[in-house]
Amino acid sequence: AFTPTRDDRFSFGLWTVGWQGVDVFGGAVRPPLESAEAIHRLSDLGAYGITFHDNDVFPFGADQAEKERHLAPLRRALEETGLVVPMVTTNLFSHPVFRDGGFTNNDRDVRRFALRKAADQIDLAAQLGAQVFVAWGGREGAESGAAKDVGTALSRYKEAFDVLGGYVREQGYDLRFAIEPKPNEPRGDILLPTVGHALAFINELEHPEMVGLNPEVGHEEMASLNYAHGLAQALWHGKLFHIDLNGQHGPRYDQDLRFGAGNARGAFWTVDIVENGGYDGPRHFDYKPPRTEDLDGVWESARACMRNYLILREKVRAFRADPEVQQALEDARVDQLAVPTVGVGESLADLRAEPFDPDAAGRRGMGFERLDQLALEHLYGVR
Ligand code: GCO
Ligand code: MN
Ligand code: MN
Ligand code: MN
Repeated sequence: AFTPTRDDRFSFGLWTVGWQGVDVFGGAVRPPLESAEAIHRLSDLGAYGITFHDNDVFPFGADQAEKERHLAPLRRALEETGLVVPMVTTNLFSHPVFRDGGFTNNDRDVRRFALRKAADQIDLAAQLGAQVFVAWGGREGAESGAAKDVGTALSRYKEAFDVLGGYVREQGYDLRFAIEPKPNEPRGDILLPTVGHALAFINELEHPEMVGLNPEVGHEEMASLNYAHGLAQALWHGKLFHIDLNGQHGPRYDQDLRFGAGNARGAFWTVDIVENGGYDGPRHFDYKPPRTEDLDGVWESARACMRNYLILREKVRAFRADPEVQQALEDARVDQLAVPTVGVGESLADLRAEPFDPDAAGRRGMGFERLDQLALEHLYGVR
């Protein structure tokens, strides 16, 4: 039990297990990890796919020949293992040229370069059969007030998605974009900071149907938001194209803990909505094995991401199948919310004519504590 198979569709960013532990206070604690090695190890652990930024695989500025030299072992490892590449993304944040961002950099030449870099990676994404192109604009933002004209920056951001979307359509690629919101870090304030901001932004694009979301657990929780609710709303809009699963303890720095560590109750409801809310994409992990770990610890933490997901999936299934839970759901009138408030053929006039005793209705309890305690008892493992 809790051993993943390909059917579970777990995927990992190469930058996750490949993170060498460089942070603002210290250098690398682990050796570089070859992409082929990562692919084989993840395959052995039960993953079905990998994802990557351009510069996780080949260096910034590499020409076509150098790119191919780095891509060859990756392609070979994919063939040997049968792993797929469901998502690809581009690094518009590491090189000094992106100090003020890519698509929304104040400098026009940098913005033009960022578009070229993204387009090159879009070609590779299509070639590898990826269906989703993630756009995490970590450097799109500001630390100070006058430095960034936010409205104008959003116009340039829109322009970028319109241009790149036009390119994808022209090429006939079967590829959609997924914006990954984050409130801050590395910028003091990042543009499109939450799921809600990004959803509103997408409506302003030339081809909104081509653009959805890649919400990350930690990023929503950094903003003190409820990740499962964010996923539910993204699903309601038909915009949940991809997910970044990891762990976070409340509103502090971006912890990128392994999935299931951090807010365990939040993780339970995350698995519930991912499994039961109509999402059918990869279960993708974007976490960082802590700097304390050697490579054994890296693989231990990768295994644990999948294992924790499967443990929680079993708990969620048991919760939903529990007859006492079903009774508690009914007692809490959860099903009643699905009934339209105004009936067919009714109008407000009918509602106005309706007798109602607010004091009597106001005495009714909702029974949510009973329902939530049942959930917690499933989570705590006593049911
Ligand atoms: C973060 C982000 C990144 C992005 C990734 C994709 O930790 O702030 O999650 O890891 O997901 O770079 O572009
Ligand atoms: Mn991070
Ligand atoms: Mn993160
Ligand atoms: Mn992420």
